[in-house]
Amino acid sequence: MIIGLIGFGKVSQNIVDLIKSDDIEFITSLENRSSKTTEAIEKRKIKALDTFKEVAAASDILISANSPKNALEVAKSYGKYCNGIYLDLNNISPETTFKINEYVGDLVDGAIIGKIDSDNPTIYLSGKKSGELLFLDEFVNTFKISDEIGDAAILKLLRSTYTKTLSALLIESVEVAKEYDLENEFFEVLSLTEGENFREKSISRINNTLSNSKRKSEELDEIINYFIKNDLVMVKAALEKLSRFQP
Ligand SMILES: NC(=O)c1ccc[n+]([C@@H]2O[C@H](COP(=O)([O-])OP(=O)(O)OC[C@H]3O[C@@H](n4cnc5c(N)ncnc54)[C@H](OP(=O)(O)O)[C@@H]3O)[C@@H](O)[C@H]2O)c1
Repeated sequence: MIIGLIGFGKVSQNIVDLIKSDDIEFITSLENRSSKTTEAIEKRKIKALDTFKEVAAASDILISANSPKNALEVAKSYGKYCNGIYLDLNNISPETTFKINEYVGDLVDGAIIGKIDSDNPTIYLSGKKSGELLFLDEFVNTFKISDEIGDAAILKLLRSTYTKTLSALLIESVEVAKEYDLENEFFEVLSLTEGENFREKSISRINNTLSNSKRKSEELDEIINYFIKNDLVMVKAALEKLSRFQP
């Protein structure tokens, strides 16, 4: 089986490292790629064809893992040449996923949950052909949600609805705890019910949110706009909270 990769950043590099099988060959292209990407491809000795069009045509599975900004353009450019399954792993909105579906024959909508280089990366899939990708579970946790394109993207957005809003609430709670000089006790008392690593996880979540507050705000905005028919009072409050941390 041939798996083609459009994009050779962290996601594709980890996929190549995780999926070790004599039955699978990875291919990609150096077409218009940066020196960083070229070096990563050469370091892993991945077969590079002249163009991504050739990669698309030669692949049984074509993985698009480049950037949220380029995902649609990539699908428009190469989707039509792909005779196999087109697996989109970009962090894109459900709307973009639906647009991509217009340009691709057998699309599978994929959502990586958490960082790909985390201890236990998990991929959720949706789309009619997603069952055919469940063999990936041998290498990386893989689940099928449904036959519906968009379900994986919506699930990812729902996850963000919870985690990003919770981060804003954590920031606020810790601010108040500090004011009363009870920060340590606050974490201790919550650890009783939330688990031993609550403090470490919370601090990492808070720091991550504060150092990326602009992007996190954009993501909250995207959630509010996508679930426009739902009454997302908490998400709106989280967005307002994060706006206080921007210049
Ligand atoms: N990293 C994660 O844990 C994670 C988790 C969930 C979802 N995602 C999503 O997965 C996608 C890839 O993430 P990443 O972390 O691997 O990104 P990355 O490390 O920034 O790498 C992006 C790769 O895509 C290539 N690329 C960009 N535009 C391209 C195009 N038009 N044609 C071909 N190649 C192109 C880049 O090549 P150049 O260097 O030549 O520009 C680079 O090799 C993103 O959409 C991201 O949101 C990532």
